[in-house]
Amino acid sequence: MSKLTGEALDGLVDTDKGFISRELFVDEDLYRRELESVFTRAWLFVGHESQIPNPGDFFTSRMGEESVILCRDKRGEIHVFLNSCRHRGMKVCRYESGNTSLFTCPYHSWTYTTDGKLQGVPQYRSLYDGVLDREANSLAQVGKIANYKGTIWATWDPEAPDFLTYLGDAKVHLDQALDCRDGREGGSEVIGIHKWVFPANWKFAAENFLGDTYHNPSHRSVDLIGIGPSAEAGKKGRRDDELEKAQHIWVSFPEGHGVHSAVQPTANEYVESFLDNPVLEEYFRHCYEERKRRLGDQARLLPFVGSIFPNTSYHGRQPRGLCAWHPHSPTSTEAWRFFLVDKDAPDEVKDYLRRYYMRYSGPAGMTEQDDMENWLYATRASVGTVARRYPFNYQQSLGKATDSYDYPGSVTLQPTEQMARGYYRTWMKYMRGESWDALLGEGER
Ligand code: FES
Ligand code: FE
Repeated sequence: MSKLTGEALDGLVDTDKGFISRELFVDEDLYRRELESVFTRAWLFVGHESQIPNPGDFFTSRMGEESVILCRDKRGEIHVFLNSCRHRGMKVCRYESGNTSLFTCPYHSWTYTTDGKLQGVPQYRSLYDGVLDREANSLAQVGKIANYKGTIWATWDPEAPDFLTYLGDAKVHLDQALDCRDGREGGSEVIGIHKWVFPANWKFAAENFLGDTYHNPSHRSVDLIGIGPSAEAGKKGRRDDELEKAQHIWVSFPEGHGVHSAVQPTANEYVESFLDNPVLEEYFRHCYEERKRRLGDQARLLPFVGSIFPNTSYHGRQPRGLCAWHPHSPTSTEAWRFFLVDKDAPDEVKDYLRRYYMRYSGPAGMTEQDDMENWLYATRASVGTVARRYPFNYQQSLGKATDSYDYPGSVTLQPTEQMARGYYRTWMKYMRGESWDALLGEGER
């Protein structure tokens, strides 16, 4: 249990002036409190239905520090339950994924069905007089579960609003990561997951994906030497020209989410990477034409990145997919990056994208390692007693949100830290235990 009092939170977050205390990124007591106050209430991403297509399929995931099992039961229903036996707490499943008809606890062999119910108890009659309450000793289930376009989300709080209410107007941006490239709803599958641990607080990563475009100089080295992840760095091509014409928008949402997207002047321009590969070119051009036909004006939206409060981020274009930033300690995070492709794309497209994703992302990816180096050194330089006295600065584009743009949320037309300010405003409300009405309240203006 966190021993922090409410007063200990005073002064840590000042979003009006634009200062956030470094304690949020290094302090053990704050960390324990956010596990209790944020991770037991907020909706968290746990996996994708394409990982568990058949009855009995399971994937072991995480919610905060808790190990959970995402499982499709024998009737085809999806469940998320705590991966901890009700007898002495042993993990009932020690595999990352697989298929089973029962989870048998390795310690004393209690067995649970694929919907989490306690079924078998050795020597049930002789040692428990046949009266042990099986229902009450089933695996702990989450409070609510949602399947949104194939992505599975869960919250421990049965009082939480439904997932779409929680997502709010960030939906239209997240959809770009989840839908098929041709504009069909859903239609994506996970083709791989990168998992690794980095020595920095989980919020560094979530904040980066809120739309910290300002950090792009960090990736300059791969551009300069011409080995950028799309292998087209240094070339000024059609894609760059089109992107220059697009209006970039940085949007903060009252629920704490934030995104960076771009809006093309018209939906008449095909804009995609991979122009060096004819199969990719043909596939994405076909998808774009279909998408324009299905979505009309909405096809103008080009999403880059976003974070759904608290610890799920997405890349909306390539490398398309979701990231979960799982906390390990105040200064250690386990990153899981789920890569998505169109389920019915040709194999050559999937293979190309798989290689592209590996070149771009993860601990050895040409781009992502730059980010982790920043978070790691910022953490090391913030743990000291003196360093902790100096808050981080979040004053970029304060008060620059516009009321007159045709996408919902608090929109800024220049790089800004308003998404981070909104994120930490929401974070503080969770830390203070405010009601759901307050948690989904007003954003920056
Ligand atoms: Fe699972 Fe004892 S801990 S059966
Ligand atoms: Fe980056």
